Amino acid sequence: MKLMSIPHLFHLLLFCATQTLGVRIQSDSVVGSEGVIQIELEGTVSLLCLSDGDSEPDEGLVWLRNGAMVRLMEENKKNGSRVCVTPAIQEDNGATFTCHLSSNASDSDSVTLNVTYPPPIMGSEELVVEEESVLVLQCDILANPQVSSVVWTVNGSTVDLLAGGFTLTDDGVTSQLIANSVDKSLHAASYGCLANSPLYGEFNKTFQVTVTDKVMKFPLMPIIAGVVVVCLTAILAVISRWSKIRQCCK
Ligand SMILES: *[C@@H]1O[C@H](CO)[C@@H](O)[C@H](O)[C@H]1NC(C)=O
Ligand SMILES: *[C@@H]1O[C@H](CO)[C@@H](O)[C@H](O)[C@H]1NC(C)=O
Ligand SMILES: *[C@@H]1O[C@H](CO)[C@@H](O)[C@H](O)[C@H]1NC(C)=O
Repeated sequence: MKLMSIPHLFHLLLFCATQTLGVRIQSDSVVGSEGVIQIELEGTVSLLCLSDGDSEPDEGLVWLRNGAMVRLMEENKKNGSRVCVTPAIQEDNGATFTCHLSSNASDSDSVTLNVTYPPPIMGSEELVVEEESVLVLQCDILANPQVSSVVWTVNGSTVDLLAGGFTLTDDGVTSQLIANSVDKSLHAASYGCLANSPLYGEFNKTFQVTVTDKVMKFPLMPIIAGVVVVCLTAILAVISRWSKIRQCCK
C-alpha cells in the first residue's frame, strides 16, 4: 500500500476542517497563527464571513465585536457578510471579531486585531524654570508593541539620577524625569528622551531647560493693609491735634 502523499493529507485535513466549521472568516490581510491580524494604526482591514458545509445558503450571519453585536445592513447578512474596520484606532487593538450563523452560535470563527503604532515622541520643547522650583520633563511612550527602552540624557550623556538629584517614573504610558528643587548649576542643560521601538526604531524628543534666579515674591496684600493702617493713624493724629489747636485758639 502506498502512503498518502503530503498534499493529499493536507487536502484531507482541510476537508475535515471545513466540515467541522460551519462558518469561516476570510481577510485580504494576513491572518497569523491563532487568528491574529496585524495592521498599522489608521489602516484598513476587511473581513468576510462565509458559511459553508451543509448549512442553508440563505441562512443569516451575525458579527460580534468583543461579544457585542455589530449592526449590519439587511443585504449584508446572507451569502457571506462583510465588515470593514477603517481607520483602525488604538481602541481596536486586541478587539476580537466573531462570526456565526444566526441560527447556531456554537459554530463560529474569530479573528483578533493587533493594531501597531509608534510612540508619539518627537520635536523639541523649551522650558524656563525658577531656581528651587520643581522641574518635570515628560515623554509619552505608549506604543504597540511596547517600547523596549527609554533613556534620558543630559547634555548628551545618560542622566545620573543620584548626582543630578532626579527621580524617574515610568508607568508604560509616560516617562517622567523630575528634579524636586532646581539648581542652576545642576539642571540648566539640554535634555533628551530616547525610546526604542522593536518595530519602528528610535524616537527622540529634546528639552532645552533654562533656569532663572528665584524671584522674591512680596506679600502684596499685607503690605497694602499695613500702609492703609499707617495712613489712617496719621490722619486721626492730625485730626485730634487740629481739634486741640482749635481749642487753644478760642
Ligand atoms: C450547532 O453547531 C454545532 C457544531 O457544528 C452542532 O454540533 C449542533 O448540533 C448545532 N446545533 C443546531 C441547533 O443546529
Ligand atoms: C502585535 O504585533 C507586534 C509586531 O509584530 C508584535 O510584536 C506583538 O507581539 C503583537 N501582539 C500581539 C498581542 O499579538
Ligand atoms: C550643559 O551644557 C551647557 C552649555 O554648554 C552648560 O552651560 C551647562 O552647565 C551644562 N549642564 C550640565 C548639567 O552639564
